[in-house]
Amino acid sequence: MKQYVLFIAALVLPLGALGQDLGTPEQLQSGAALYEAKCAHCHGAAGDANSVATAYLRPAPRDFTSGQYKFRTTGSGELPTTEDIKRSIRDGMPYTSMPLWKGILSESEMEDLAYYLKTFSGDFDGPYGNPEVITIPRAPTYDEGNLARGREVFEANQCADCHGENGRGNGPSALDLEDEWGYPIRPADMTKRWTFRASATREDIYRTFTTGLNGTPMPSYQQTIDEQDRWALVDYVWSLSEDEPNYGTVVTAVGTAGALDISQGAALFADAPRAYFPIVGQLIEPGRSFYPGVNGIAVQAIYNQNEIALLLSWHDMTAEVDGANHPGLVVPPFDPATADTAAGPFSDALALLWPAETPDGLERPYFMFGDAKNAMSIWFTDLATDSAAVLMGRGSASIAATGATLAHYASYEDGAWTVIMKGPRQFDSGLYMAEAAFTPVSFSVWDGLNQERGNKRGLAAWYHLYLLPMETQSAALPMAKWALIALLIELLLVGVVHWRHRRSAT
Ligand code: HEC
Ligand code: HEC
Repeated sequence: MKQYVLFIAALVLPLGALGQDLGTPEQLQSGAALYEAKCAHCHGAAGDANSVATAYLRPAPRDFTSGQYKFRTTGSGELPTTEDIKRSIRDGMPYTSMPLWKGILSESEMEDLAYYLKTFSGDFDGPYGNPEVITIPRAPTYDEGNLARGREVFEANQCADCHGENGRGNGPSALDLEDEWGYPIRPADMTKRWTFRASATREDIYRTFTTGLNGTPMPSYQQTIDEQDRWALVDYVWSLSEDEPNYGTVVTAVGTAGALDISQGAALFADAPRAYFPIVGQLIEPGRSFYPGVNGIAVQAIYNQNEIALLLSWHDMTAEVDGANHPGLVVPPFDPATADTAAGPFSDALALLWPAETPDGLERPYFMFGDAKNAMSIWFTDLATDSAAVLMGRGSASIAATGATLAHYASYEDGAWTVIMKGPRQFDSGLYMAEAAFTPVSFSVWDGLNQERGNKRGLAAWYHLYLLPMETQSAALPMAKWALIALLIELLLVGVVHWRHRRSAT
Protein backbone atom coordinates (compact mmCIF):
# COMPACT_ATOMS: atom_id res chain seq x y z
CA MET A 1 0.00 0.00 0.00
CA LYS A 2 2.77 2.37 0.99
CA GLN A 3 4.55 1.58 -2.25
CA TYR A 4 1.40 2.34 -4.19
CA VAL A 5 1.04 5.74 -2.53
CA LEU A 6 4.67 6.53 -3.21
CA PHE A 7 4.23 5.57 -6.84
CA ILE A 8 1.21 7.91 -7.22
CA ALA A 9 3.06 10.66 -5.36
CA ALA A 10 5.94 10.29 -7.78
CA LEU A 11 3.49 10.74 -10.63
CA VAL A 12 1.72 13.70 -9.10
CA LEU A 13 4.64 15.62 -7.68
CA PRO A 14 6.39 16.68 -10.89
CA LEU A 15 3.06 17.81 -12.30
CA GLY A 16 2.33 19.66 -9.09
CA ALA A 17 5.40 21.61 -9.98
CA LEU A 18 3.33 23.16 -12.78
CA GLY A 19 0.91 24.30 -10.11
CA GLN A 20 -1.99 22.00 -10.92
CA ASP A 21 -4.36 21.19 -8.12
CA LEU A 22 -5.10 17.51 -8.62
CA GLY A 23 -5.86 16.13 -5.17
CA THR A 24 -4.28 13.34 -3.16
CA PRO A 25 -4.71 9.64 -4.01
CA GLU A 26 -7.04 9.34 -0.99
CA GLN A 27 -9.18 12.17 -2.28
CA LEU A 28 -9.33 10.62 -5.74
CA GLN A 29 -10.27 7.26 -4.30
CA SER A 30 -13.06 8.75 -2.22
CA GLY A 31 -14.19 10.85 -5.22
CA ALA A 32 -14.34 7.76 -7.44
CA ALA A 33 -16.57 5.91 -4.98
CA LEU A 34 -18.91 8.88 -4.55
CA TYR A 35 -19.04 9.39 -8.31
CA GLU A 36 -19.96 5.78 -8.93
CA ALA A 37 -22.77 6.00 -6.39
CA LYS A 38 -24.21 9.46 -7.08
CA CYS A 39 -23.20 10.74 -10.50
CA ALA A 40 -22.39 7.94 -12.95
CA HIS A 41 -26.03 7.15 -13.85
CA CYS A 42 -26.26 10.60 -15.46
CA HIS A 43 -22.69 11.52 -16.34
CA GLY A 44 -21.63 8.00 -17.39
CA ALA A 45 -19.18 5.66 -15.68
CA ALA A 46 -16.37 7.04 -17.84
CA GLY A 47 -17.47 10.66 -17.34
CA ASP A 48 -18.38 10.96 -21.01
CA ALA A 49 -22.14 11.43 -20.52
CA ASN A 50 -22.68 8.07 -22.13
CA SER A 51 -25.61 7.06 -19.92
CA VAL A 52 -29.21 5.98 -20.29
CA ALA A 53 -30.33 9.31 -18.88
CA THR A 54 -28.60 11.49 -21.48
CA ALA A 55 -31.17 10.95 -24.25
CA TYR A 56 -33.91 12.24 -21.96
CA LEU A 57 -32.21 15.31 -20.56
CA ARG A 58 -31.74 18.79 -22.11
CA PRO A 59 -29.33 20.24 -21.36
CA ALA A 60 -27.59 16.86 -21.40
CA PRO A 61 -25.39 15.85 -18.45
CA ARG A 62 -21.92 17.27 -18.88
CA ASP A 63 -19.34 15.19 -20.75
CA PHE A 64 -16.40 15.67 -18.40
CA THR A 65 -13.92 14.25 -20.91
CA SER A 66 -14.35 17.48 -22.92
CA GLY A 67 -12.99 19.71 -20.15
CA GLN A 68 -15.70 22.24 -21.04
CA TYR A 69 -17.32 23.80 -17.99
CA LYS A 70 -19.96 26.52 -18.10
CA PHE A 71 -19.31 27.89 -14.66
CA ARG A 72 -15.78 29.21 -14.21
CA THR A 73 -13.86 32.07 -12.71
CA THR A 74 -11.28 31.60 -15.47
CA GLY A 75 -10.98 33.00 -18.99
CA SER A 76 -12.94 31.90 -22.05
CA GLY A 77 -11.94 28.40 -23.17
CA GLU A 78 -9.97 27.78 -19.98
CA LEU A 79 -10.43 24.98 -17.48
CA PRO A 80 -12.31 25.64 -14.22
CA THR A 81 -10.66 25.77 -10.80
CA THR A 82 -11.34 23.09 -8.19
CA GLU A 83 -13.48 25.60 -6.29
CA ASP A 84 -15.50 26.33 -9.47
CA ILE A 85 -16.35 22.65 -9.92
CA LYS A 86 -17.11 22.33 -6.23
CA ARG A 87 -19.49 25.24 -6.43
CA SER A 88 -21.46 23.67 -9.31
CA ILE A 89 -21.74 20.46 -7.30
CA ARG A 90 -22.80 22.38 -4.19
CA ASP A 91 -25.39 24.64 -5.86
CA GLY A 92 -26.51 22.40 -8.74
CA MET A 93 -27.77 23.94 -11.96
CA PRO A 94 -31.31 25.29 -11.57
CA TYR A 95 -33.97 24.27 -14.10
CA THR A 96 -31.81 21.39 -15.34
CA SER A 97 -31.64 17.89 -13.89
CA MET A 98 -28.28 18.63 -12.23
CA PRO A 99 -29.20 18.38 -8.51
CA LEU A 100 -27.75 20.52 -5.77
CA TRP A 101 -25.69 18.52 -3.30
CA LYS A 102 -25.49 21.06 -0.51
CA GLY A 103 -26.65 19.35 2.67
CA ILE A 104 -26.29 15.89 1.07
CA LEU A 105 -22.53 15.75 0.58
CA SER A 106 -19.98 17.31 2.92
CA GLU A 107 -17.59 20.01 1.72
CA SER A 108 -14.72 17.54 1.69
CA GLU A 109 -16.75 14.98 -0.28
CA MET A 110 -17.52 17.64 -2.88
CA GLU A 111 -13.84 18.46 -3.06
CA ASP A 112 -12.98 14.78 -3.56
CA LEU A 113 -15.53 14.65 -6.38
CA ALA A 114 -14.13 17.79 -8.02
CA TYR A 115 -10.67 16.20 -8.09
CA TYR A 116 -12.07 12.99 -9.45
CA LEU A 117 -13.94 14.80 -12.27
CA LYS A 118 -10.63 16.32 -13.31
CA THR A 119 -9.24 12.85 -14.03
CA PHE A 120 -11.73 12.41 -16.90
CA SER A 121 -9.97 15.01 -19.02
CA GLY A 122 -6.28 14.89 -19.86
CA ASP A 123 -6.14 18.70 -19.87
CA PHE A 124 -6.11 19.16 -16.12
CA ASP A 125 -2.67 17.63 -15.68
CA GLY A 126 -1.32 19.24 -18.85
CA PRO A 127 0.29 22.65 -19.37
CA TYR A 128 -3.09 24.49 -19.20
CA GLY A 129 -4.06 22.77 -15.98
CA ASN A 130 -3.42 25.79 -13.83
CA PRO A 131 -5.55 28.56 -15.35
CA GLU A 132 -5.40 32.14 -14.18
CA VAL A 133 -8.33 33.20 -12.02
CA ILE A 134 -10.31 36.30 -12.96
CA THR A 135 -11.14 38.10 -9.74
CA ILE A 136 -14.79 39.13 -9.70
CA PRO A 137 -15.09 42.41 -7.77
CA ARG A 138 -17.74 42.86 -5.08
CA ALA A 139 -20.84 44.34 -6.71
CA PRO A 140 -21.46 48.01 -6.00
CA THR A 141 -25.02 48.75 -4.85
CA TYR A 142 -27.67 48.52 -7.54
CA ASP A 143 -28.03 51.90 -9.21
CA GLU A 144 -31.04 52.80 -11.35
CA GLY A 145 -28.99 55.65 -12.73
CA ASN A 146 -26.97 52.97 -14.58
CA LEU A 147 -29.88 51.56 -16.55
CA ALA A 148 -29.73 53.87 -19.57
CA ARG A 149 -26.00 53.22 -20.03
CA GLY A 150 -26.55 49.50 -19.37
CA ARG A 151 -29.13 49.35 -22.13
CA GLU A 152 -26.64 50.98 -24.51
CA VAL A 153 -23.99 48.39 -23.63
CA PHE A 154 -26.60 45.62 -24.10
CA GLU A 155 -27.39 46.95 -27.58
CA ALA A 156 -23.81 47.68 -28.60
CA ASN A 157 -22.77 44.11 -27.77
CA GLN A 158 -25.68 42.44 -29.55
CA CYS A 159 -26.93 40.65 -26.47
CA ALA A 160 -30.39 41.03 -28.06
CA ASP A 161 -29.34 38.91 -31.06
CA CYS A 162 -29.70 35.87 -28.87
CA HIS A 163 -31.49 37.07 -25.74
CA GLY A 164 -34.12 39.21 -27.47
CA GLU A 165 -34.91 42.91 -27.44
CA ASN A 166 -36.34 42.67 -23.92
CA GLY A 167 -34.32 39.70 -22.73
CA ARG A 168 -37.02 37.05 -23.15
CA GLY A 169 -34.67 34.61 -24.88
CA ASN A 170 -36.23 35.19 -28.29
CA GLY A 171 -33.55 36.98 -30.33
CA PRO A 172 -33.28 36.44 -34.09
CA SER A 173 -30.33 34.03 -33.66
CA ALA A 174 -31.95 32.10 -30.80
CA LEU A 175 -33.52 29.44 -33.00
CA ASP A 176 -30.33 28.10 -34.52
CA LEU A 177 -28.12 27.82 -31.45
CA GLU A 178 -26.44 24.54 -30.57
CA ASP A 179 -24.10 23.58 -27.77
CA GLU A 180 -20.69 21.94 -28.18
CA TRP A 181 -22.31 18.51 -28.22
CA GLY A 182 -24.73 19.30 -31.06
CA TYR A 183 -27.86 19.71 -28.93
CA PRO A 184 -30.13 22.71 -29.46
CA ILE A 185 -29.67 25.28 -26.69
CA ARG A 186 -31.88 28.22 -25.78
CA PRO A 187 -30.52 31.59 -24.67
CA ALA A 188 -31.39 32.40 -21.05
CA ASP A 189 -34.65 34.26 -20.44
CA MET A 190 -33.33 37.31 -18.58
CA THR A 191 -36.76 38.10 -17.20
CA LYS A 192 -36.50 34.89 -15.10
CA ARG A 193 -33.12 34.96 -13.48
CA TRP A 194 -34.08 32.16 -11.11
CA THR A 195 -33.58 29.88 -14.15
CA PHE A 196 -29.93 30.88 -14.67
CA ARG A 197 -27.65 27.83 -14.60
CA ALA A 198 -24.67 29.30 -12.83
CA SER A 199 -26.52 31.32 -10.13
CA ALA A 200 -27.90 34.80 -10.45
CA THR A 201 -26.38 37.27 -8.04
CA ARG A 202 -25.09 40.46 -9.64
CA GLU A 203 -21.54 39.10 -9.33
CA ASP A 204 -22.66 35.95 -11.15
CA ILE A 205 -24.09 37.98 -14.04
CA TYR A 206 -20.83 39.94 -14.23
CA ARG A 207 -18.90 36.69 -14.26
CA THR A 208 -21.11 35.06 -16.92
CA PHE A 209 -20.52 37.67 -19.60
CA THR A 210 -16.91 38.22 -18.58
CA THR A 211 -15.86 34.55 -18.76
CA GLY A 212 -18.54 33.29 -21.17
CA LEU A 213 -20.05 29.83 -20.78
CA ASN A 214 -17.73 27.23 -22.33
CA GLY A 215 -19.47 24.63 -24.44
CA THR A 216 -22.31 27.03 -25.28
CA PRO A 217 -22.72 29.93 -27.75
CA MET A 218 -22.74 32.38 -24.81
CA PRO A 219 -19.58 34.42 -25.59
CA SER A 220 -17.01 36.04 -23.32
CA TYR A 221 -16.89 39.83 -23.30
CA GLN A 222 -13.71 40.08 -21.27
CA GLN A 223 -11.95 41.99 -24.04
CA THR A 224 -14.89 44.01 -25.35
CA ILE A 225 -16.67 45.61 -22.41
CA ASP A 226 -14.91 48.24 -20.28
CA GLU A 227 -14.69 47.69 -16.56
CA GLN A 228 -16.99 50.61 -15.67
CA ASP A 229 -19.58 49.57 -18.25
CA ARG A 230 -19.78 46.07 -16.85
CA TRP A 231 -21.72 47.06 -13.74
CA ALA A 232 -24.02 49.23 -15.86
CA LEU A 233 -24.77 46.14 -17.97
CA VAL A 234 -25.22 44.02 -14.83
CA ASP A 235 -27.71 46.54 -13.44
CA TYR A 236 -29.60 46.58 -16.71
CA VAL A 237 -29.84 42.76 -16.87
CA TRP A 238 -30.75 42.75 -13.16
CA SER A 239 -33.57 45.23 -13.78
CA LEU A 240 -35.29 42.84 -16.20
CA SER A 241 -36.30 40.26 -13.59
CA GLU A 242 -37.79 39.76 -10.16
CA ASP A 243 -35.65 37.89 -7.61
CA GLU A 244 -38.02 34.96 -7.31
CA PRO A 245 -40.85 33.59 -9.44
CA ASN A 246 -43.29 34.03 -6.50
CA TYR A 247 -45.40 31.09 -7.63
CA GLY A 248 -49.06 31.33 -6.66
CA THR A 249 -51.73 28.77 -5.79
CA VAL A 250 -54.93 30.71 -6.48
CA VAL A 251 -56.20 32.82 -9.36
CA THR A 252 -58.43 35.52 -7.89
CA ALA A 253 -61.11 36.57 -10.36
CA VAL A 254 -62.57 40.04 -9.89
CA GLY A 255 -66.20 40.72 -10.75
CA THR A 256 -67.69 43.41 -12.90
CA ALA A 257 -71.27 44.37 -13.69
CA GLY A 258 -70.45 45.11 -17.32
CA ALA A 259 -69.90 42.94 -20.39
CA LEU A 260 -66.56 41.14 -20.79
CA ASP A 261 -65.29 42.62 -24.02
CA ILE A 262 -62.23 40.48 -24.66
CA SER A 263 -61.35 42.31 -27.87
CA GLN A 264 -59.72 44.82 -25.49
CA GLY A 265 -57.02 42.21 -24.85
CA ALA A 266 -54.96 42.51 -21.68
CA ALA A 267 -56.44 45.96 -20.91
CA LEU A 268 -59.67 44.27 -19.79
CA PHE A 269 -57.72 42.66 -16.93
CA ALA A 270 -56.07 45.82 -15.63
CA ASP A 271 -57.65 45.42 -12.16
CA ALA A 272 -57.29 41.65 -11.88
CA PRO A 273 -54.40 40.34 -9.75
CA ARG A 274 -51.79 38.25 -11.60
CA ALA A 275 -50.79 34.80 -10.38
CA TYR A 276 -47.79 32.92 -11.79
CA PHE A 277 -47.57 29.13 -11.93
CA PRO A 278 -44.77 26.68 -12.77
CA ILE A 279 -45.17 24.48 -15.84
CA VAL A 280 -43.40 21.11 -15.90
CA GLY A 281 -43.15 18.33 -18.47
CA GLN A 282 -45.86 15.65 -18.46
CA LEU A 283 -43.97 12.54 -17.32
CA ILE A 284 -46.67 10.26 -15.94
CA GLU A 285 -48.14 8.76 -19.11
CA PRO A 286 -46.61 7.82 -22.47
CA GLY A 287 -45.98 10.74 -24.75
CA ARG A 288 -43.77 12.16 -22.01
CA SER A 289 -42.28 15.59 -22.32
CA PHE A 290 -38.80 15.43 -20.81
CA TYR A 291 -37.82 19.00 -21.50
CA PRO A 292 -40.86 21.19 -22.07
CA GLY A 293 -40.39 24.49 -23.90
CA VAL A 294 -42.43 26.55 -21.43
CA ASN A 295 -41.61 26.80 -17.70
CA GLY A 296 -44.21 29.17 -16.31
CA ILE A 297 -47.57 30.79 -17.04
CA ALA A 298 -49.20 33.97 -15.72
CA VAL A 299 -52.96 33.99 -15.19
CA GLN A 300 -55.55 36.68 -14.51
CA ALA A 301 -59.34 36.36 -14.42
CA ILE A 302 -62.43 38.52 -14.51
CA TYR A 303 -66.11 37.55 -14.34
CA ASN A 304 -69.60 38.97 -14.55
CA GLN A 305 -73.08 37.60 -13.85
CA ASN A 306 -72.84 34.74 -16.35
CA GLU A 307 -69.37 34.55 -17.80
CA ILE A 308 -65.74 34.20 -16.88
CA ALA A 309 -62.69 35.23 -18.92
CA LEU A 310 -59.11 34.14 -18.22
CA LEU A 311 -55.99 35.81 -19.54
CA LEU A 312 -52.97 33.52 -19.86
CA SER A 313 -49.53 34.67 -20.89
CA TRP A 314 -46.23 32.86 -21.22
CA HIS A 315 -42.84 33.24 -22.84
CA ASP A 316 -42.15 31.22 -25.96
CA MET A 317 -39.12 31.74 -28.21
CA THR A 318 -41.16 31.59 -31.45
CA ALA A 319 -44.83 31.50 -32.38
CA GLU A 320 -45.64 28.25 -34.20
CA VAL A 321 -48.77 29.23 -36.07
CA ASP A 322 -48.45 26.74 -38.92
CA GLY A 323 -49.47 23.13 -38.64
CA ALA A 324 -51.95 21.90 -36.06
CA ASN A 325 -52.28 20.62 -32.52
CA HIS A 326 -54.79 18.77 -30.35
CA PRO A 327 -54.73 17.13 -26.89
CA GLY A 328 -55.85 13.85 -28.46
CA LEU A 329 -52.96 13.50 -30.93
CA VAL A 330 -51.14 10.22 -30.47
CA VAL A 331 -47.43 10.55 -29.71
CA PRO A 332 -45.15 7.71 -30.85
CA PRO A 333 -42.76 6.20 -28.27
CA PHE A 334 -39.84 8.47 -27.44
CA ASP A 335 -36.97 8.05 -29.88
CA PRO A 336 -33.79 9.82 -28.85
CA ALA A 337 -32.63 9.83 -32.45
CA THR A 338 -35.53 12.01 -33.63
CA ALA A 339 -34.93 15.75 -33.63
CA ASP A 340 -36.71 17.28 -30.69
CA THR A 341 -36.50 20.90 -31.77
CA ALA A 342 -37.81 21.56 -35.25
CA ALA A 343 -40.32 23.91 -36.79
CA GLY A 344 -43.50 22.09 -37.86
CA PRO A 345 -45.72 20.26 -38.14
CA PHE A 346 -47.11 21.13 -34.69
CA SER A 347 -48.45 24.49 -33.64
CA ASP A 348 -48.44 26.18 -30.22
CA ALA A 349 -51.57 25.52 -28.19
CA LEU A 350 -53.16 26.10 -24.79
CA ALA A 351 -55.74 24.36 -22.63
CA LEU A 352 -57.57 25.32 -19.47
CA LEU A 353 -58.66 22.23 -17.55
CA TRP A 354 -61.69 22.07 -15.24
CA PRO A 355 -63.48 19.21 -13.52
CA ALA A 356 -66.62 18.73 -15.60
CA GLU A 357 -68.76 18.63 -12.47
CA THR A 358 -68.51 20.50 -9.18
CA PRO A 359 -66.18 18.25 -7.17
CA ASP A 360 -67.10 16.88 -3.76
CA GLY A 361 -64.97 18.68 -1.23
CA LEU A 362 -61.35 18.54 -2.25
CA GLU A 363 -61.66 15.74 -4.81
CA ARG A 364 -60.29 16.59 -8.23
CA PRO A 365 -60.31 14.67 -11.49
CA TYR A 366 -57.28 12.66 -12.51
CA PHE A 367 -55.03 15.38 -13.77
CA MET A 368 -54.17 13.71 -17.05
CA PHE A 369 -57.22 14.35 -19.19
CA GLY A 370 -59.78 13.07 -16.69
CA ASP A 371 -60.86 9.44 -16.27
CA ALA A 372 -63.93 7.30 -16.80
CA LYS A 373 -65.54 8.40 -13.53
CA ASN A 374 -64.41 12.02 -13.40
CA ALA A 375 -64.69 13.77 -16.72
CA MET A 376 -62.70 16.87 -17.45
CA SER A 377 -63.80 19.91 -19.35
CA ILE A 378 -60.99 21.12 -21.61
CA TRP A 379 -61.06 24.66 -22.98
CA PHE A 380 -58.67 24.31 -25.87
CA THR A 381 -57.23 26.66 -28.45
CA ASP A 382 -54.87 25.68 -31.25
CA LEU A 383 -52.99 28.92 -31.85
CA ALA A 384 -52.66 28.14 -35.56
CA THR A 385 -56.43 28.55 -35.81
CA ASP A 386 -58.77 31.36 -34.98
CA SER A 387 -60.97 29.31 -32.69
CA ALA A 388 -61.37 27.85 -29.21
CA ALA A 389 -63.63 24.99 -28.21
CA VAL A 390 -64.80 22.93 -25.25
CA LEU A 391 -63.64 19.30 -25.29
CA MET A 392 -64.63 16.56 -22.89
CA GLY A 393 -61.86 14.34 -21.55
CA ARG A 394 -62.33 10.90 -20.00
CA GLY A 395 -58.65 9.99 -20.14
CA SER A 396 -55.90 10.82 -22.62
CA ALA A 397 -57.22 8.31 -25.15
CA SER A 398 -60.78 9.55 -24.86
CA ILE A 399 -61.05 13.23 -25.72
CA ALA A 400 -64.09 14.34 -27.68
CA ALA A 401 -65.50 17.60 -28.97
CA THR A 402 -68.67 18.80 -27.25
CA GLY A 403 -69.61 21.09 -30.10
CA ALA A 404 -69.43 24.14 -27.80
CA THR A 405 -67.11 26.97 -28.85
CA LEU A 406 -65.56 29.74 -26.77
CA ALA A 407 -64.87 33.38 -27.40
CA HIS A 408 -61.12 33.84 -27.53
CA TYR A 409 -58.32 36.29 -28.26
CA ALA A 410 -54.65 35.57 -29.02
CA SER A 411 -51.62 37.68 -29.74
CA TYR A 412 -47.89 36.99 -29.91
CA GLU A 413 -45.43 39.79 -29.42
CA ASP A 414 -41.75 39.95 -28.52
CA GLY A 415 -41.44 36.39 -27.28
CA ALA A 416 -44.70 36.25 -25.36
CA TRP A 417 -48.12 34.75 -26.03
CA THR A 418 -51.20 36.46 -24.61
CA VAL A 419 -54.35 34.36 -24.88
CA ILE A 420 -57.84 34.98 -23.51
CA MET A 421 -60.64 32.42 -23.35
CA LYS A 422 -64.14 33.32 -22.23
CA GLY A 423 -66.90 30.88 -21.35
CA PRO A 424 -69.96 30.37 -19.16
CA ARG A 425 -69.73 30.14 -15.36
CA GLN A 426 -72.35 27.39 -15.55
CA PHE A 427 -71.14 24.37 -17.53
CA ASP A 428 -73.62 22.14 -19.39
CA SER A 429 -72.26 19.19 -17.51
CA GLY A 430 -72.92 20.67 -14.09
CA LEU A 431 -69.88 22.59 -12.83
CA TYR A 432 -70.88 25.99 -11.53
CA MET A 433 -68.31 28.63 -10.64
CA ALA A 434 -70.00 30.28 -7.70
CA GLU A 435 -68.91 33.54 -6.13
CA ALA A 436 -66.79 33.13 -3.00
CA ALA A 437 -66.06 29.52 -4.00
CA PHE A 438 -62.86 27.77 -5.08
CA THR A 439 -63.00 25.96 -8.42
CA PRO A 440 -60.12 23.60 -9.35
CA VAL A 441 -58.31 24.68 -12.48
CA SER A 442 -55.18 23.59 -14.32
CA PHE A 443 -53.29 24.63 -17.46
CA SER A 444 -51.56 22.80 -20.27
CA VAL A 445 -49.37 24.42 -22.86
CA TRP A 446 -47.82 23.00 -26.01
CA ASP A 447 -44.64 24.41 -27.56
CA GLY A 448 -44.84 23.34 -31.20
CA LEU A 449 -41.14 24.01 -31.72
CA ASN A 450 -40.41 21.34 -29.12
CA GLN A 451 -42.57 18.85 -31.02
CA GLU A 452 -45.15 18.97 -28.24
CA ARG A 453 -48.60 17.62 -29.04
CA GLY A 454 -51.16 15.35 -27.43
CA ASN A 455 -49.85 14.11 -24.10
CA LYS A 456 -46.39 15.52 -24.78
CA ARG A 457 -47.01 18.87 -23.16
CA GLY A 458 -46.16 21.22 -20.36
CA LEU A 459 -48.63 21.00 -17.49
CA ALA A 460 -49.46 22.66 -14.21
CA ALA A 461 -50.68 20.99 -11.02
CA TRP A 462 -54.26 21.64 -9.90
CA TYR A 463 -54.70 25.14 -8.58
CA HIS A 464 -57.84 27.08 -7.67
CA LEU A 465 -59.83 29.84 -9.19
CA TYR A 466 -61.53 32.01 -6.57
CA LEU A 467 -64.34 34.35 -7.52
CA LEU A 468 -63.95 37.38 -5.28
CA PRO A 469 -67.57 38.24 -4.34
CA MET A 470 -68.78 41.42 -6.00
CA GLU A 471 -70.33 42.54 -2.69
CA THR A 472 -67.02 42.74 -0.85
CA GLN A 473 -65.53 44.51 -3.83
CA SER A 474 -68.27 47.13 -3.90
CA ALA A 475 -68.54 47.40 -0.11
CA ALA A 476 -65.28 49.29 -0.13
CA LEU A 477 -66.63 51.94 -2.45
CA PRO A 478 -69.64 53.19 -0.43
CA MET A 479 -67.42 53.19 2.67
CA ALA A 480 -64.91 55.41 0.91
CA LYS A 481 -67.77 57.63 -0.23
CA TRP A 482 -69.04 58.09 3.33
CA ALA A 483 -65.56 58.85 4.56
CA LEU A 484 -65.26 61.53 1.90
CA ILE A 485 -68.61 63.07 2.78
CA ALA A 486 -67.69 63.09 6.47
CA LEU A 487 -64.44 64.82 5.62
CA LEU A 488 -66.22 67.46 3.55
CA ILE A 489 -68.67 68.18 6.37
CA GLU A 490 -65.78 68.51 8.78
CA LEU A 491 -63.94 70.92 6.48
CA LEU A 492 -67.09 72.93 6.05
CA LEU A 493 -67.57 73.17 9.82
CA VAL A 494 -63.96 74.20 10.29
CA GLY A 495 -64.45 76.82 7.57
CA VAL A 496 -67.59 78.18 9.18
CA VAL A 497 -65.88 78.44 12.58
CA HIS A 498 -62.93 80.26 11.04
CA TRP A 499 -65.18 82.64 9.17
CA ARG A 500 -67.19 83.41 12.31
CA HIS A 501 -63.99 83.87 14.25
CA ARG A 502 -62.61 86.34 11.72
CA ARG A 503 -65.86 88.23 11.57
CA SER A 504 -66.04 88.56 15.33
CA ALA A 505 -62.40 89.73 15.31
CA THR A 506 -63.10 92.61 12.90
C1 HEC B 1 -30.05 13.44 -12.74
C2 HEC B 1 -28.88 13.63 -13.53
C3 HEC B 1 -27.63 14.17 -12.87
C4 HEC B 1 -26.99 13.70 -11.75
C5 HEC B 1 -27.40 12.58 -10.83
C6 HEC B 1 -25.79 14.49 -11.62
N1 HEC B 1 -25.72 15.43 -12.61
FE1 HEC B 1 -24.21 16.76 -12.88
N2 HEC B 1 -25.22 17.55 -14.47
C7 HEC B 1 -26.40 17.07 -14.98
C8 HEC B 1 -26.78 17.89 -16.11
C9 HEC B 1 -28.01 17.70 -16.95
C10 HEC B 1 -25.78 18.86 -16.25
C11 HEC B 1 -25.71 19.96 -17.32
C12 HEC B 1 -26.38 21.24 -16.87
C13 HEC B 1 -26.16 22.35 -17.85
O1 HEC B 1 -25.37 22.18 -18.77
O2 HEC B 1 -26.75 23.41 -17.69
C14 HEC B 1 -24.80 18.61 -15.22
C15 HEC B 1 -23.66 19.35 -15.05
C16 HEC B 1 -22.69 19.10 -14.11
C17 HEC B 1 -21.45 19.85 -13.97
C18 HEC B 1 -21.00 20.95 -14.90
C19 HEC B 1 -20.81 22.32 -14.31
C20 HEC B 1 -20.33 23.30 -15.33
O3 HEC B 1 -19.74 24.29 -14.91
O4 HEC B 1 -20.52 23.13 -16.52
C21 HEC B 1 -20.77 19.29 -12.92
C22 HEC B 1 -19.43 19.73 -12.37
C23 HEC B 1 -21.56 18.20 -12.42
N3 HEC B 1 -22.72 18.11 -13.16
C24 HEC B 1 -21.20 17.37 -11.40
C25 HEC B 1 -21.98 16.34 -10.90
C26 HEC B 1 -21.59 15.51 -9.80
C27 HEC B 1 -20.27 15.57 -9.08
C28 HEC B 1 -22.63 14.65 -9.57
C29 HEC B 1 -22.75 13.60 -8.49
C30 HEC B 1 -22.51 14.05 -7.13
C31 HEC B 1 -23.66 14.96 -10.54
N4 HEC B 1 -23.21 15.96 -11.33
C32 HEC B 1 -24.87 14.29 -10.62
C33 HEC B 1 -27.13 16.00 -14.52
C34 HEC B 1 -26.82 15.27 -13.39
C1 HEC C 1 -24.58 34.11 -29.65
C2 HEC C 1 -25.67 34.15 -28.72
C3 HEC C 1 -25.51 34.93 -27.44
C4 HEC C 1 -25.12 36.23 -27.25
C5 HEC C 1 -24.71 37.24 -28.32
C6 HEC C 1 -25.22 36.50 -25.84
N1 HEC C 1 -25.65 35.37 -25.18
FE1 HEC C 1 -25.94 35.22 -23.19
N2 HEC C 1 -26.48 33.26 -23.42
C7 HEC C 1 -26.55 32.60 -24.62
C8 HEC C 1 -26.99 31.23 -24.38
C9 HEC C 1 -27.21 30.16 -25.44
C10 HEC C 1 -27.17 31.09 -23.00
C11 HEC C 1 -27.64 29.86 -22.25
C12 HEC C 1 -26.50 29.03 -21.78
C13 HEC C 1 -26.96 27.84 -21.00
O1 HEC C 1 -28.14 27.61 -20.80
O2 HEC C 1 -26.10 27.10 -20.57
C14 HEC C 1 -26.85 32.40 -22.43
C15 HEC C 1 -26.92 32.67 -21.06
C16 HEC C 1 -26.74 33.93 -20.51
C17 HEC C 1 -26.94 34.25 -19.12
C18 HEC C 1 -27.39 33.28 -18.04
C19 HEC C 1 -26.23 32.56 -17.44
C20 HEC C 1 -26.62 31.40 -16.58
O3 HEC C 1 -26.05 31.27 -15.48
O4 HEC C 1 -27.50 30.62 -16.96
C21 HEC C 1 -26.67 35.59 -18.97
C22 HEC C 1 -26.74 36.40 -17.68
C23 HEC C 1 -26.29 36.09 -20.27
N3 HEC C 1 -26.33 35.05 -21.18
C24 HEC C 1 -25.93 37.41 -20.51
C25 HEC C 1 -25.58 37.89 -21.77
C26 HEC C 1 -25.20 39.26 -22.02
C27 HEC C 1 -25.20 40.37 -20.98
C28 HEC C 1 -24.89 39.36 -23.35
C29 HEC C 1 -24.36 40.55 -24.11
C30 HEC C 1 -23.22 41.24 -23.51
C31 HEC C 1 -25.10 38.03 -23.93
N4 HEC C 1 -25.51 37.18 -22.94
C32 HEC C 1 -24.91 37.71 -25.25
C33 HEC C 1 -26.27 33.11 -25.86
C34 HEC C 1 -25.83 34.40 -26.11
